[in-house]
Amino acid sequence: MSESVDIEQYKIKSEPYYEAVGNELNLYASAYEVRMPLMIKGPTGCGKSRFIEHMAWKLGKPLITVACNEDMTASDLVGRFLLDKDGTKWQDGPLTTAARIGAICYLDEVVEARQDTTVVIHPLTDHRRSLPLDKKGELINAHEDFQLVISYNPGYQSLMKDLKQSTKQRFGGLDFDYPEEDLETQIVTKESGVDKETAKKLVQIAHRARNLKGHGLDEGISTRLLVYAGQLIAKGVEAEAACSMTMVTPLTDDPDMRDTLNAAVQTFFG
Ligand SMILES: Nc1ncnc2c1ncn2[C@@H]1O[C@H](COP(=O)(O)OP(=O)(O)OP(=O)(O)O)[C@@H](O)[C@H]1O
Ligand SMILES: [Mg+2]
Repeated sequence: MSESVDIEQYKIKSEPYYEAVGNELNLYASAYEVRMPLMIKGPTGCGKSRFIEHMAWKLGKPLITVACNEDMTASDLVGRFLLDKDGTKWQDGPLTTAARIGAICYLDEVVEARQDTTVVIHPLTDHRRSLPLDKKGELINAHEDFQLVISYNPGYQSLMKDLKQSTKQRFGGLDFDYPEEDLETQIVTKESGVDKETAKKLVQIAHRARNLKGHGLDEGISTRLLVYAGQLIAKGVEAEAACSMTMVTPLTDDPDMRDTLNAAVQTFFG
């Protein structure tokens, strides 16, 4: 057995601010009751992580988040033997820890991970709810509070990188998108400290830019970037400079596209 883990470090102490967009709070709560694995789909910066943090807090469960990438191996998730002065010692990976302590395990951008990595989640996400630690020769039966949640950005992956049907069909799914205008204005106001009028302008600029998705932009301006813009403006940065820094420069290097975006900024802050 591995040494005991401090569960408290994974608990979220205060309420993460989250504005519900639809009935996702109830849907999540019901899915959690039956411990259904969930797939949260949506573009970058639209509130997926914030939502999971809010739900983990609301349900009073520890949350373990893992950012997946293409170099990640199954061992990074499950664990490995490490060498120390007394010989070898097993160290649990984050997925194993979550299964043992009954955490919500949030695998961010799971499509990025190699397929041998996604396969280790299979026995955890069907009736077995188990995790074989092959190298260690141990079979873990997941704690009754354990739940697996993955995020998935429908825009990014090529066909090569998409999840297999046998992986997809182990999850329930929730679609996320940028909140509608009034709600997004409220979020930007609350999160950045700008006044409502300024927040509304930022959201309106974002709406223009979001129409350019697929017409020269890979992604629209996220809620996250609007919050960044608002934070700079609230600190006294001039609006055009703040927008340029947060809503134009990170998005594209194409000079024409930058002109287009800057023109949208001009329309509202010029
Ligand atoms: N419904 C919401 N309620 C409160 N804040 C929100 C909401 N939606 C978005 N935000 C704001 O947007 C920011 C970005 O959201 P978040 O980090 O959850 O995005 P994400 O969907 O997880 O993005 P990524 O796919 O890049 O990880 C949050 O820090 C928060 O300020
Ligand atoms: Mg996230």
